[in-house]
Amino acid sequence: MNEIIEAIKIATLEIQEIIITGDTGKSDNQNSTGDTQLKLDIASDIVIEREFKKLSCIKEIVSEEQDDIVKINENGKYLIAYDPLDGSSLVDVNLSVGSIYGIYENDFTGANIVASIYVVFGPRVEMVIADGKTLKMYRLQKGEFVYIQDIKLEEKGKLQAPGSTQQCWYPHHKTMIDAFFADGYRLRYSGGMVPDLHQILLKGGGLFSYPGTSDKPKGKLRQLFEVFPFAFTYKSAGGQATDGINDVLEVPTTHIHDTSPCFFGSNYEINIVKEVYSKNV
Ligand code: F6P
Ligand code: MG
Repeated sequence: MNEIIEAIKIATLEIQEIIITGDTGKSDNQNSTGDTQLKLDIASDIVIEREFKKLSCIKEIVSEEQDDIVKINENGKYLIAYDPLDGSSLVDVNLSVGSIYGIYENDFTGANIVASIYVVFGPRVEMVIADGKTLKMYRLQKGEFVYIQDIKLEEKGKLQAPGSTQQCWYPHHKTMIDAFFADGYRLRYSGGMVPDLHQILLKGGGLFSYPGTSDKPKGKLRQLFEVFPFAFTYKSAGGQATDGINDVLEVPTTHIHDTSPCFFGSNYEINIVKEVYSKNV
């Protein structure tokens, strides 16, 4: 696992340079989910793939930016799914973005995720590593990732980040989000899931939601690259992640680019989500 962390550190330094100096324009390609890829997405993806290909402990990798799994070493132990530059369309307006890595054993399913790592590129670069029991944050300082703190969620927070197109929300979802606001929750939504989830983790708790909607019943966020890694991260910090009904890590995966409705948060908020959704299946 240490080798993987070291490879991610090397890739992170290079991606930081790509963000600072790279061309924020569109490429001519679309990824598997139909998003137009930016040149930044492609450049970041190349860096990560190059670093992972050097490691014999990795069996397979799959990127949000690619259609298929890339096989690396038949005898490798780990499988890694990654989103090289989540929120890349925010770079041109100078908002924070991130990289997300889910590390799996045996197969790419929520049940088999064994570690997750995300990197936030904001005013500072921070790397957060989840091992299932703890969540540890490191900050880039003078070229080194320095340990800063363990992150632990409170039982109840004060922030909410409600994602997706409100026009397409189901009525019970809208009622629930409104109720959180009526209860004093404050809106925090930048449109980048990495900084939005990072903020909730560091400010003690709250709720990030990206529900199924009338136009996208299975939501938008991808299981392997976004949902499962952050579910593992939140659980490692003492919080929860659900698809509304079940622990989202138990939701089956039929295709590497499957999406899932998802809610990440501290215990109080997620228990409310489960109560509301269980009555509205
Ligand atoms: O990768 C998808 C993403 O950019 C996330 O970073 C973010 O949380 C989400 O999309 C925002 O989607 P929307 O604009 O629909 O709320
Ligand atoms: Mg993404």
